[in-house]
Formats: sequence, structure tokens, C-alpha cells
Amino acid sequence: MKILFATQNQNKIEEVKNMLPSGFELMGLNQFNFTDDIPETQPTIEGNAIQKANFVFNTLKTPCFAEDTGLIVPSLNGEPGVYSARYAGPYRDPLKNMEKLLKKLSSEKSREAYFETVIALKYGHKLETFVGRCKGRIAHEAKGSNGFGYDPIFIPEGYDLSFASLSKSIKNKISHRAIAMSKLIAYLSE
Ligand code: IMP
Repeated sequence: MKILFATQNQNKIEEVKNMLPSGFELMGLNQFNFTDDIPETQPTIEGNAIQKANFVFNTLKTPCFAEDTGLIVPSLNGEPGVYSARYAGPYRDPLKNMEKLLKKLSSEKSREAYFETVIALKYGHKLETFVGRCKGRIAHEAKGSNGFGYDPIFIPEGYDLSFASLSKSIKNKISHRAIAMSKLIAYLSE
């Protein structure tokens, strides 16, 4: 089965490619010469995933799935949450985002956090969503060079190393995105 992933984010494409079982083939927006920015202006992670899937479906008239992810820190009232990409400003700078989060957390007792991914699948008149969460904690400093975004400061539950220090294959088994993808794959396999 061929399935279009409605994202311009190369990191997400690489991860998702490595999660697909045989029999599934990922298509990218480049195959449709689609280079527009995809709007994500909703106040929730779910809302953004749905907005992205609808936008690409309506433009290309092709079944597709989109995803949105946020890092949620309960002791900071859920920050950065839906604003994870632009936490430190409009330039989507991962280093500045991590710096801001570490600074804000320096006076907090709890460093518990979780990633949440929502995948929205749009085909015909149907829309389905799939949620994946990965619990963990925020490290005191950034470490590791794998992955992207907040990976250097996120230590998943059951591990002592950040996602960026763990192997890609471990992240791709236990991550928020992996959990949401496994639900999507189960749905598509029905
Ligand atoms: P978006 O889903 O592309 O809007 O991403 C929101 C923010 O979370 C961006 O800053 C991403 O870099 C970050 N992000 C998304 N997925 C991950 C992940 O798997 N690990 C670390 N950071 C992520």
C-alpha cells in the first residue's frame, strides 16, 4: 500500500520510513511537486494534525496522513505544548527552544515530561486520528547528536540517556511517533 505523508519535515520522514512494515510504501510531497508551507494555526496538537491533513488532501485530492507533535511539561502548565516549534520565537530554532525550556525548569522540582503525537488520516470523507505518547523527563543539559528538536534533552522512561544519545532504532520503537504510527498501520491493515 502506498501512503502519502503530508509533511515537509525531513526528520519525520526518515523516522516514519523506518517504522513501516513491508507492504507499505511512503510517498512524500516532493513526488507531487508540492512545496507550499502547510498551515498549522490551531490551538491544539490534534487540531494542527487535522488542519495539515485536510490542507494537503484538499490541495492534492490524494489520501494522506499528517502529524503534529508537542512536548508537554506538566510543571510548566503544559509548556511548550502546541507551541513547541516556536517556543523561543518564530524561527523554529531547536537550540534556543531547549535553552529556554532548561532555563524555565531550573527552579522547578519536577522535570517530568511527555511527547504527544497526533496523526490525522484523511481519505474520502473520512478522518481518523491516532495518538501516541512517550513519557520521560527533561535532562539538566543537552546531550547526543541523533534525532532532532528536543531529543537532546528528553530522557524516555526506563532509560538514562536522551533520545539523541540512544540509537535511532530504540527511539523508533518506543517514541510517541512510533506508537501513533503503529495505530495507523494497524488501522490501514484491517
Ligand atoms: P511539529 O510537529 O513539526 O510542529 O513539531 C513541534 C516541535 O517539536 C518542533 O520543535 C520539533 O522539532 C519538535 N519535535 C517534534 N517531534 C519531535 C521528536 O520526535 N523529538 C524531539 N522533538 C520533536
